[in-house]
Amino acid sequence: MSTELIWIGREQYEEQVFRRGGSSTIYFLTDNLLGKFIGNGRGSLRADPAARKLLQREAKIAQFLYENDVPVARPYGVHDIPLHYSLRQTGRRVEEKFPCFVQEFLDVPMLRSLEYIQRVEGMVMARRLLEELGERVGLASARDALSESNILFNPTSREIRLVDFAEWAFQGMEFE
Ligand SMILES: Nc1ncnc2c1ncn2[C@@H]1O[C@H](COP(=O)(O)OP(=O)(O)OP(=O)(O)O)[C@@H](O)[C@H]1O
Ligand SMILES: [Mg+2]
Repeated sequence: MSTELIWIGREQYEEQVFRRGGSSTIYFLTDNLLGKFIGNGRGSLRADPAARKLLQREAKIAQFLYENDVPVARPYGVHDIPLHYSLRQTGRRVEEKFPCFVQEFLDVPMLRSLEYIQRVEGMVMARRLLEELGERVGLASARDALSESNILFNPTSREIRLVDFAEWAFQGMEFE
């Protein structure tokens, strides 16, 4: 049965959605914590074992990077977070827990939303960082790492932060 998701944890559902990614939805859990759920929103969030596995793998990679002083959001692991939604056909409200990768909210714009010159500067820094990570932590491939939506850049401090490690792979490490 198709469902329509409505967050009623705090006020309104739409205010809680921070961003919809290609294959995930990012919610505010608190003022400074974000939760990444698999599924791109209305009616399609996933709670199946495969979805949990994807999030757990990404959370482990994030933890590994964070512990190695790579500039990423502080990760807090995968947790079952209850969401409330109503069934489209009957309108009945249901609570269901979904696996969620919890992480620090970085109040930093993504490269995509910045001026051209800042985008270039951020991109150069991200390229350098990824090259260094090959040597330093065994990063073997990182598809989408240079996407302008996965690089956050603070134009004042000129620091970058990386998000979204779903497609990253490392030499000799599985993160299963
Ligand atoms: N910790 C964070 N702090 C601030 N913004 C974040 C954080 N994590 C993710 N975002 C924002 O949310 C967007 C979606 O997150 P993410 O890239 O992890 O999801 P995704 O579904 O893999 O995205 P896509 O498939 O579109 O690349 C990111 O592009 C980024 O702008
Ligand atoms: Mg992304």
